[in-house]
Amino acid sequence: MTKIIAFINHKGGVGKTTVCAHLAYSLAHHHQKRVLAIDFDTQANLTEILGAIEAPRTITDVLNGESAASCVYDANGVSVLASSIELANTEYDLTANNTQNALKAVLGDVVQQYDFVLIDCPPSLGMLTVNAMQAATDVCVVSNAEYLSLRGMTNIVTVVEQMRLYNTALELSGVVISHYDTRKSVNREVLEQLRETFKDRVITPPVRSAVAVVEASSHGGTVFQIRPNADVVNDFQALTTSFIKHYEKQTRQ
Ligand SMILES: Nc1ncnc2c1ncn2[C@@H]1O[C@H](COP(=O)(O)OP(=O)(O)O)[C@@H](O)[C@H]1O
Ligand SMILES: [Mg+2]
Repeated sequence: MTKIIAFINHKGGVGKTTVCAHLAYSLAHHHQKRVLAIDFDTQANLTEILGAIEAPRTITDVLNGESAASCVYDANGVSVLASSIELANTEYDLTANNTQNALKAVLGDVVQQYDFVLIDCPPSLGMLTVNAMQAATDVCVVSNAEYLSLRGMTNIVTVVEQMRLYNTALELSGVVISHYDTRKSVNREVLEQLRETFKDRVITPPVRSAVAVVEASSHGGTVFQIRPNADVVNDFQALTTSFIKHYEKQTRQ
């Protein structure tokens, strides 16, 4: 069964796109998983990091009626439905018409060709994120380990609960921590509290804060490609291994 996972957080800058990109790259390259990465943010950062900026068609074309399969772009071995600023117009239309099911409808059966479909959501709980959650089987929250982010979790839990009225199978099944610094007591405390609340839904290890990540993304790539010897590579590799175990175990239950 395909796992369709929406990476969400209404806060920006918490590492959603970075985590999504590195998971997609590692699942495809190190674990031979069939992965489709969908960039559902008008900022198109995932498109850039995965090297899909040249994609001739984007998710906007899919939402406007082109077949999803014909718009999938092979970016260095990762299948990507890219984004661009044009998605902003589509978001406007979806919001104006309160259309929640557009993404699910246009993806159709294409998702079945993949083991994992990862949807990188914008930093809001607006109509694009709602469409992502309607199309998804799972929600994975990406957060940093700061107190304000911990408080924001309550909002996310509430929104996912509301979505479950429509998409009854949807589960908030994963929490990933980014920008983690073991030397900061606040980071350790917040991680502890997240573990208390979300139990084994917290997927470890947290991804450390590392300048290599910023360098890699400014070169339009992942650390695997641009800074392969950086320590943070180990975090992303270990996270990917846990991520697979986490979701394959869940599938068997
Ligand atoms: N582990 C990390 N260490 C240091 N910087 C990071 C890390 N993860 C992401 N960043 C940087 O933080 C910024 C926001 O990350 P991003 O993944 O785009 O967040 P979001 O998608 O939640 O807005 C980017 O400049 C990114 O390069
Ligand atoms: Mg982002």
